[in-house]
Amino acid sequence: MINVVLFGPPGAGKGTQSQNLVSHYSLVHLSTGDLLRAEVTAGTPLGVEAKKLMDEGKLVPDEVVIGMIEGKIKQHLESRGFVFDGFPRTVAQAEALDFMLMKNKMSITCMISLQVPEAETTARLMKRALEEQRSDDNEETIRKRVREYLEKTIPVAEYYRSKGRHNAIQGVGAVLEIFKRITEAVDKSVRSQES
Ligand code: AP5
Repeated sequence: MINVVLFGPPGAGKGTQSQNLVSHYSLVHLSTGDLLRAEVTAGTPLGVEAKKLMDEGKLVPDEVVIGMIEGKIKQHLESRGFVFDGFPRTVAQAEALDFMLMKNKMSITCMISLQVPEAETTARLMKRALEEQRSDDNEETIRKRVREYLEKTIPVAEYYRSKGRHNAIQGVGAVLEIFKRITEAVDKSVRSQES
């Protein structure tokens, strides 16, 4: 089983590279951003509350996203593994994920931390704003998303570093070049955990 945490600031390419990982290793994609946007589209009470926070660039409460991920893991226990995209985003989420996986005799294979300068991520998101309608892709909200990332999410990198699971990957360049770097890191982690 391969369980990858794809980590990085808003616009780092987590969603893009998740799709590649899912196809390459036949994994299940779990994106808390996508799950929350589905709730918003469906107009559920959770979606209504989440939308307010997402439009302000703030994180949704831990218990909400942990509950969503737990439900999805239970639905796919027979899978070859998971790509966690945009989750965990706080140390409490990381601890909860480890606990959920442990209960099911699983663990994180590796964390891929995409390294992309803020000027590049902002440029990508502003370009996407012209092509797609994501209500949080505007200059002010992007700034707030980055602030949340720096304050609450960066400590997650240290959490995985302390467990020997952290892999920093240069996230600038062609999508397939970056993907090659990611698969090299994933394959190396798999081999080291098999030996
Ligand atoms: P989420 O949906 O996770 O958004 P995000 O982290 O801000 O990330 P993005 O989806 O904007 O970027 P990405 O890194 O996936 O990059 P992508 O591949 O799309 O979260 C949204 C909100 O939901 C949060 O703000 C929060 O409110 C809430 N939320 C979600 N998860 C949560 C959690 N766990 N806890 C609490 N709250 C949570 O690429 C971006 C653009 O760049 C695309 O247009 C793409 O085509 C382009 N691109 C990708 N790679 C390259 C490349 N190599 N070169 C040039 N362009 C590229």
